[in-house]
Amino acid sequence: MSRLVLVANRVPNPNDRGATAGGLAVALKDAVARRDAMWFGWSGSTAEATATTPEIETRGRLTYATLDLGREDYRRYYQGFANGSLWPTLHYRLGLSQFDRADYAGYRKVNAAFGQALAPLLRRDDLVWVHDFHLFPLGAELRRLGVGQRLGFFLHVPFPPAGLFCAMPRGAELVADLAAYDVIGVQTEEDAVNLRAALVAIGQKSAAARVAAFPVGIDAEGFARTAAKAASGIETARFRQSLVGRTLVLGVDRLDYTKGLPQRFCGFAQLLARFQQHRQRVTYLQVAPVSRGDVAQYRSLRRELDEWVGRINGQHADPDWMPLRYMTRAVARPTLAGFMRLARVGLVTPLRDGMNLVAKEYVAAQDPADPGVLVLSRFAGAVAQLPGALLVNPLDPDEIAEALDTALDMGREERILRWRSMEAGVREHSAHAWCQDFMAALEGDGPTAIAA
Ligand code: G6P
Repeated sequence: MSRLVLVANRVPNPNDRGATAGGLAVALKDAVARRDAMWFGWSGSTAEATATTPEIETRGRLTYATLDLGREDYRRYYQGFANGSLWPTLHYRLGLSQFDRADYAGYRKVNAAFGQALAPLLRRDDLVWVHDFHLFPLGAELRRLGVGQRLGFFLHVPFPPAGLFCAMPRGAELVADLAAYDVIGVQTEEDAVNLRAALVAIGQKSAAARVAAFPVGIDAEGFARTAAKAASGIETARFRQSLVGRTLVLGVDRLDYTKGLPQRFCGFAQLLARFQQHRQRVTYLQVAPVSRGDVAQYRSLRRELDEWVGRINGQHADPDWMPLRYMTRAVARPTLAGFMRLARVGLVTPLRDGMNLVAKEYVAAQDPADPGVLVLSRFAGAVAQLPGALLVNPLDPDEIAEALDTALDMGREERILRWRSMEAGVREHSAHAWCQDFMAALEGDGPTAIAA
């Protein structure tokens, strides 16, 4: 069996036992357990200059090869172009995108450095699978260095309409770089249509035919077990006690402007104002771990949310009831799984999201005999697999308030019916299936389109 080489900006920590692992590491856990594999990417550290040879660490059949990034390169590549320009554009927020030629040069420089460091490590029959928007040009860099191995690329975030993406300076150049990959995976059919159109528009018709949707999933059975166990543990017990019988609404998102948090907070405030029967009866916990805190747009969002929380609680709280609980610290996965099982409503309202695995985890975490309700943005990729969710336009706080009211009043029978259809979707489109389908396409002659 050929070795699998996984390339991502953020690679899992070899010492991590799962509690803090990111979604990608969890999704690929199975694939790397079955064969020789190598993770390649950024070490998570910065240094004076970007390293030319990677640090190598081996754990059984798994190798980790990571590079320190020079401080200036990190700033230009990660904070500047990847997160300051590309991320907002890919999430349809061209107005937030800040372009700077020096940042773009830094982005290309780091991709070239990754290519230079990775190429000598590759074996003849390796399969190389590159992940996400940090690394659009890496395939082309590897090809320039004579790498002939099969190269796959998966974009975890949305791909917007071609005209929008190519309005970003150098957008067309980045699309052209994608043509170097043998398989180009995206999350949804909509993303696939958009990316194909962008490739066709620049004359890359054959690359357009290599684009396919592979909706990423979770290990539903594993997460359900974790949730059931955590729900009877001490942390959930303490949390439950603190709710003194009130119904829990739960949101879990990185603190990111794509997640629609101000609109969501506003929606919750509308619920309290318009549907007063829920006052005193509901507690909303929002877990929003700080993310990319060194990028300007994220800092201002954090200030905005601090204000929202103060305003909502100031206006609506009673001496014995704080309607909105908000924390910006990360919470360990198993603990969150227990909280998800406890929550009557999972509130997931991103303005745009490639997939959104929290929505799927919320479904997997439920007690089948008394499941909660998922309120979900119609602009999350996960919508296709979650037909039983209450869908909302995340830009409309009134719609969020109405969906919350419906969810809080929903009887057990309807909750069970809705949950069953979602659970089936989550189980069918598992992390394992995602990996297998992508790998099959990468090993074969071309992509296999997956019906979302
Ligand atoms: C999203 C991206 C990932 C990224 C993650 C965390 O899920 O698709 O590529 O790793 O956010 O963001 P960070 O900037 O901390 O890596």
